[in-house]
Amino acid sequence: MRVAVIGAGVIGLATAQSIYEHYNGKVSPLTIEVYADVFTPLTTSDGAAGFWQPYLHDKGNVQETKWNKETFDYLLSFLNSPECVKMGIFLQSGYNLCTEPSPDPSFKDIVLGFRQLTERELEMFPGYKFGWFNTALMVEGKSYLPWLTDWLKQRGVQFYQKKINSFNELADSGVDVIINCTGVRSGELQPDPELKPGRGQIIKVDAPWLKHWILTHSSDKGVYNSPYIIPGSRLVTVGGVFQIGNWSTHNNSVDHKKIWEAACELEPSLKHARIVEDWAGLRPVRSKVRLERETMQSGAKTFEVIHNYGHGGFGLTIHRGCAEEAARLFGDILEQKGPKSRL
Ligand SMILES: Cc1cc2nc3c(=O)[nH]c(=O)nc-3n(C[C@H](O)[C@H](O)[C@H](O)COP(=O)(O)OP(=O)(O)OC[C@H]3O[C@@H](n4cnc5c(N)ncnc54)[C@H](O)[C@@H]3O)c2cc1C
Ligand SMILES: *[C@@H]1O[C@H](CO)[C@@H](O)[C@H](O)[C@H]1NC(C)=O
Ligand SMILES: *[C@@H]1O[C@H](CO)[C@@H](O)[C@H](O)[C@H]1NC(C)=O
Ligand SMILES: *[C@@H]1O[C@H](CO)[C@@H](O)[C@H](O)[C@H]1NC(C)=O
Repeated sequence: MRVAVIGAGVIGLATAQSIYEHYNGKVSPLTIEVYADVFTPLTTSDGAAGFWQPYLHDKGNVQETKWNKETFDYLLSFLNSPECVKMGIFLQSGYNLCTEPSPDPSFKDIVLGFRQLTERELEMFPGYKFGWFNTALMVEGKSYLPWLTDWLKQRGVQFYQKKINSFNELADSGVDVIINCTGVRSGELQPDPELKPGRGQIIKVDAPWLKHWILTHSSDKGVYNSPYIIPGSRLVTVGGVFQIGNWSTHNNSVDHKKIWEAACELEPSLKHARIVEDWAGLRPVRSKVRLERETMQSGAKTFEVIHNYGHGGFGLTIHRGCAEEAARLFGDILEQKGPKSRL
């Protein structure tokens, strides 16, 4: 059984890990290969702040809320292990601020110590009438991706730097199952009108006195289009913008100015922070994550594809739950393909 994962962002690497964890030793031989044209530290998953939080409301998509919870609980379970430092996982508390009262978010029972803000707390944030405080997790891609890569390499997973131009190219080389974890560029392999880039730009600053994250939410501006401040292990991430349909990964000085002025209004001490760099990336925006099987054909050969893409602005937040679901779909394929002796 040869499995090829396309994509080495958090989704591709975590999916390769879940497949290894569930099927190594049960399917023999099992060869897992990862193909990507961009690796850590250059993927979207590396640039992201690495903050665990889904969008405020799941709009009835309880499946994604379940995957988010699975990911939170999985990451939390590493906190009593020294390994969490290498993985880039740590706890951090902070504020979600709203311009008007809002129903409880979908993650209220997932995070730790969730509660509404008091009047005294709200006084610190002029312009905001409502909000919540809780403890959440950070999982920083710049640590987590190298950790996942090492984990996989130590277990014999093979890595190939290669742009894949069609699924058939892998199928024709003898691959049985392809896992499609290509993020925002998935559309190049198979058109998906539902998948769009949600351009983001962030400013990384040196401001070690900031210890809490602050996210603002405004109903008219949309998600992540209003200021947020997320302290990381070394630098603080300041955002943000969310521009649907814009494919540019270049920094823009107009966006920089807009982000900076709004963030300084929210947290005036930022004026004394040293700006280290700007970064722009594309969120793979979709109405919902695409996580499903498809049987495809190349000439006479039939092969299986598992799609795992479209994780928007919450790929690190949901990655483990989706990886486990992709591994379950892989198990279905094994069962169908063959005699029980295989498993
Ligand atoms: C500014 C910004 C801030 C963010 N902050 C957060 C945050 O704090 N928390 C959070 O949970 N999420 C955050 N996100 C969202 C998160 O970054 C994404 O959801 C996540 O990175 C998607 O992961 P991925 O593995 O699908 O894609 P990527 O990380 O983009 O990886 C895609 C991989 O596919 C490969 N690939 C694509 N096409 C091909 C091809 N044809 N052939 C070969 N290889 C191919 C690429 O080389 C790459 O290895 C943020 C996003 C942005 C832009
Ligand atoms: C792979 O996923 C991308 C989205 O990441 C999608 O656009 C593309 O159509 C998929 N490729 C195939 C062959 O299904
Ligand atoms: C996309 O973003 C770039 C960089 O910020 C900007 O120069 C360009 O005008 C934007 N394009 C559209 C269509 O919004
Ligand atoms: C964005 O700006 C930073 C400096 O702030 C620079 O290091 C980086 O290369 C720029 N990125 C792009 C794509 O222009």
